Amino acid sequence: MNWRLLYSPWAWAEWFRTTSARLHAEHVAWNLRAVRPYIQPRMRVLDVGAWDCRLARAVRDELGARVTAVDVVDKNCTDVELRIMPAPASLPVDDDERFDAVLLLYVLHHAADDLALLREAARVVAPGGTVLVGEDRVESWRERVRTVAFHIWLLTFTFMGWKGRFRRIEAWRDRFASAGLAVREVIELDAEGRFFPRNLLFVLRPG
Ligand SMILES: C[S@@+](CC[C@H](N)C(=O)[O-])C[C@H]1O[C@@H](n2cnc3c(N)ncnc32)[C@H](O)[C@@H]1O
Repeated sequence: MNWRLLYSPWAWAEWFRTTSARLHAEHVAWNLRAVRPYIQPRMRVLDVGAWDCRLARAVRDELGARVTAVDVVDKNCTDVELRIMPAPASLPVDDDERFDAVLLLYVLHHAADDLALLREAARVVAPGGTVLVGEDRVESWRERVRTVAFHIWLLTFTFMGWKGRFRRIEAWRDRFASAGLAVREVIELDAEGRFFPRNLLFVLRPG
């Protein structure tokens, strides 16, 4: 117990700073563990919905990939190249540029038009490349309650609302097929923490 917390606002500020740094580091490590098997050194990786770009930096520094980040907002706190999307479902990627892996981690349910974003992912992924989609599980009503409650918490603390939908696995399969993406694997991930939703990683290939 830090007794200074009982009387010192500076102790609170310090506690908040260290806790927030620890949570950020744990989140990056957790995401990195999920994508690591699909990323090799020198691969071209596009991280869509990269938020603060900490994961993009870890993919570059720890896995040796060449990473570009994309988002609708600029929260970049790293030196990774971040491209701001000109419109919510339009990736700023020219026709002569392609990526070996496209990451859409916990992004699709935030997007008003997830199908358009998926079609964009299918457009920019290289032949034989991989699209990795992370989503929160809502297979049962309990999982849906947990997922929605978590996102209300997220909205409260980060003002990050969600404009799209949480879908069940079969509904996601249909969505991916409509975008021309085939499901190769569905991986059940552990919850990131005790109060977090359980998560899924979809491994997709064009065609
Ligand atoms: C829950 S955060 C996920 C951040 C990061 N991918 C991760 O796993 O930690 C959702 C991200 O999606 C972004 N986002 C929301 N709508 C988007 C859209 N239409 N296209 C791309 N990114 C979007 C948000 O700005 C935010 O960075």
